[in-house]
Amino acid sequence: MKVSVIGVGYVGIITAVSLAELGHNVLGMDDNKEKVKSFSKGISPIYEEGLEEALNKNIKEGTLSFTDSIEVAISHGEVIFICVGTPSLPGGKADLSFVERVAREIAKNAKEYKLIVEKSTVPVKTSEQILKTIKLYNKHGVELEVASNPEFLREGTALQDFFEADRIVIGVSSKKAENLFRELYKGIDSPIVVTDPNTAEIIKHASNSFLAMKISFINMVADLCENTGADINKVAEGMGFDKRIGKSFLNAGIGYGGSCFPKDVRAFNQIGKENGLDFSLLKDVDKINIERVERFISKLRKAHWVFKDKVFSLWGLAFKPGTDDIREAPALKVMEILLNEGAILRVYDPKAMENVKKIFPPTEKLYYAQDPYDAAKDSEAILLITEWDEFKSIDFSKIKDMILTNVLIDGRNLYSPKKMKEEGFIYYPVGKPPIEEI
Ligand code: UDX
Repeated sequence: MKVSVIGVGYVGIITAVSLAELGHNVLGMDDNKEKVKSFSKGISPIYEEGLEEALNKNIKEGTLSFTDSIEVAISHGEVIFICVGTPSLPGGKADLSFVERVAREIAKNAKEYKLIVEKSTVPVKTSEQILKTIKLYNKHGVELEVASNPEFLREGTALQDFFEADRIVIGVSSKKAENLFRELYKGIDSPIVVTDPNTAEIIKHASNSFLAMKISFINMVADLCENTGADINKVAEGMGFDKRIGKSFLNAGIGYGGSCFPKDVRAFNQIGKENGLDFSLLKDVDKINIERVERFISKLRKAHWVFKDKVFSLWGLAFKPGTDDIREAPALKVMEILLNEGAILRVYDPKAMENVKKIFPPTEKLYYAQDPYDAAKDSEAILLITEWDEFKSIDFSKIKDMILTNVLIDGRNLYSPKKMKEEGFIYYPVGKPPIEEI
């Protein structure tokens, strides 16, 4: 089947590469010419496990190509995926202007039937809005249909999440559209939930908001554990055996980041409000998450009541391991606070440093290290922010010879208090008793 993907960002490129992998003839489009040139050469500006190999394989097999012309993309695909951004406006509402612009272009250029698919996360009833736009601009009076097919891809495991999806959700208004989707996704044996577009749009926002709520819930309970000397990992273990709760997404830490959870929770809260409902539960989810960084910094203050001219080492900058993405990453907020208080930072991340440098260029007070040990040189506190595998196998006896004071604040409970005590560290975990004496 001929498919066009408009907007090759994190979601669009995974959609394009994966559908090409399934044997479809896919054309990816973006108005960022640099990005299109890079993808066309088989070089992905986005880091994602396995992406570049799949990109090159499909370009070579002729099932995947790229263009910066939206007209060419519209004429190519019988199915056109809209994968452009829906960033937050002030107050949390989703900015749908990019989605609307693409819908307008499709209506103006389409000369035969098109199935227009919302892949971007959009508020409920967006598909109805798109339909309105299409009817207004449908110059050639062709049959155009709008469907919702939300993605559930996690960064770092996106390709796996596509091919081993827990479920595929399609929001359609006709049997024809349903059959096209079934043909599109043939080869993926995940359950397909068929519903209407509005319901599909709600499934996406509700799923992300629920996952974010689960994280804020366990972080709220972690605060109680800190005040009562309990152990949040054991609480999560005791909860998780209950199949109705489940073990996943119960890792307490410095909070969720990324381009989805923060934005989707705020957007879903707005959607509730716009429909005359009280979704303030989601405001608390957001509030608890925002508090995580201050709580993390307050632990550092217990060890160092002055930050000025102190050397602190940050291990991990990406919002989670396995990606170079720093959008809404807790590390950025930590860096801002510490730099504002005059600290000297030595930071390291296996993948995300180039992205962080665009926001915090290197200075005499901000050094981008070669590796975790280089970051730890002359350190007066090590701050573990992203739980990359690389940090699991640190040789602390080597570290201890390089640092000035043995302080480690663990934002992801990567280390065990027992081990840190044996290594002779002042150690602050999340939701567990700290080690304050050495
Ligand atoms: C999320 C959803 O999982 C995915 O289905 C949706 O399509 C996009 O948003 P993503 O943001 O890429 O995916 O990563 P995810 O693995 O969900 O983690 C999101 C954030 O939550 C990260 O900052 C992570 O560190 C944090 N997290 C996750 C926790 O703090 N605790 C957990 O137990 C799990």
